[in-house]
Amino acid sequence: MTTNQSWGGRFAEGPRKAVAAYTDSQSFDRALYAQDIRASQAHARMLGRQGIITPDDASTIVAGLERVREEIASGVFVWKPELEDVHMNIEARLTELVGEAGKKLHTGRSRNDQVGLTFRLFVSERLEAWQYGLATVCYALLCRAQEHRDTILPGCTHLQPAQPVSLAQHLLAYAWMFRRDWQRLKDALKRVRISPLGAAALAGTTYPLDPQSVANDVGFAAVYDNSMDAVSDRDFVLEALFAASTVMMHLSRICEEIILWANPAFGFVRLPDGFATGSSIMPQKKNPDVAELMRGKTGRVYGALMSLLTVMKGLPLAYNRDMQEDKEGFLDADATLGASLQLMAGLLNELRFCPDRMREACKVGFCNATELADYLVGKGVSFREAHHITGQAVAAAEKAGKGLEDLTLDKLRQFNPCIDADVYSVLDYAAAVRRRETPGGTGPQSVQRQIQALRVWLKEVHAD
Ligand code: ARG
Repeated sequence: MTTNQSWGGRFAEGPRKAVAAYTDSQSFDRALYAQDIRASQAHARMLGRQGIITPDDASTIVAGLERVREEIASGVFVWKPELEDVHMNIEARLTELVGEAGKKLHTGRSRNDQVGLTFRLFVSERLEAWQYGLATVCYALLCRAQEHRDTILPGCTHLQPAQPVSLAQHLLAYAWMFRRDWQRLKDALKRVRISPLGAAALAGTTYPLDPQSVANDVGFAAVYDNSMDAVSDRDFVLEALFAASTVMMHLSRICEEIILWANPAFGFVRLPDGFATGSSIMPQKKNPDVAELMRGKTGRVYGALMSLLTVMKGLPLAYNRDMQEDKEGFLDADATLGASLQLMAGLLNELRFCPDRMREACKVGFCNATELADYLVGKGVSFREAHHITGQAVAAAEKAGKGLEDLTLDKLRQFNPCIDADVYSVLDYAAAVRRRETPGGTGPQSVQRQIQALRVWLKEVHAD
């Protein structure tokens, strides 16, 4: 193989075929072409402004890069594996197109700071896309919550029926998780949007660069503080992957609930046909594959995070080629998360909830037992005593195959004579939900306040 035209000066022969294949990254980092071109155009303009290259050369480069962009976008661009990566493929084509001026683009720059800026631009755009996806999921949750303010189901602890809650409250719990994820991304973006350009290979450069103006040009507010840190920092990718992992973890939890709820033993939801699959052997099956796969794909996103943490842990300053391993994991995580958010919003929009089954489950689970205990406390019984009495009532109801509210007053009074007819309104599941108006509780006013707060937030971020 011939020597590389960008760095082959000191080499008598090119890399072995297997070496070229092993070090190649253009096969995947070509996904970053638009950001690489944007960064290079900003660099060229700065070189022109600073008088490092002539204004003519600067505009020739900027226009030439525009042509390269069009070639890539339209698919006519010929990618060359021997040129290693996206950066050198683009620069080589630029020089073919515009001649001498193209060879001046790399003045005062190294691929080390170049790839840093390119990838930061890319990650920053993806984080914004994830934020949009999260807002879409929150909106779907909000709509379904609004619709199901009066639907009641057993809230669980230990996956055992505990106390009745509204379906709205249950769905809103996820909306708050996804809102925190959105905020986590917003915070991470502050650290992603820092330009490393000007750090050059690792030590800065002798050319009179103006790194801040490059940052401004690409829409970043800040520049690096230390050139060695600038070219070797990948914590911006790690933060993004951690945020992505947390979103996937939240998605996976809601998937787990959908899977359980779709089981006929629960029967709380019916899957929309478009989001379910059948079995090739069991005709009755309707499988929640989308939710299962989303739960499963969570592992790949965690994998990308763990893999990059491991890549980085032993690296001495400054740039090391190991860091090229930051991209495939991120690209995979991005594709996984993007599709998952989109599908979750669709699934939530179309999921059919079954309020009757949910209400029935409250009865089977004795979700009003705490109400009886609290009722007894109201009549002057100590809480421990009330707890014990209620336990006895539950055991009796269970034996009779009834809910507590189905026991006659006489029967209930056998457990404690201070129980009166007013107990039935207390045992009502909906009433139990209505009474829980502590801030953030499942009471209808609290739920309405949550819906309102999330709605205001969604309006704000859509206007963002
Ligand atoms: N493809 C490389 C990466 O993704 C670009 C930087 C290479 N720099 C170098 N000096 N070999 O990290």
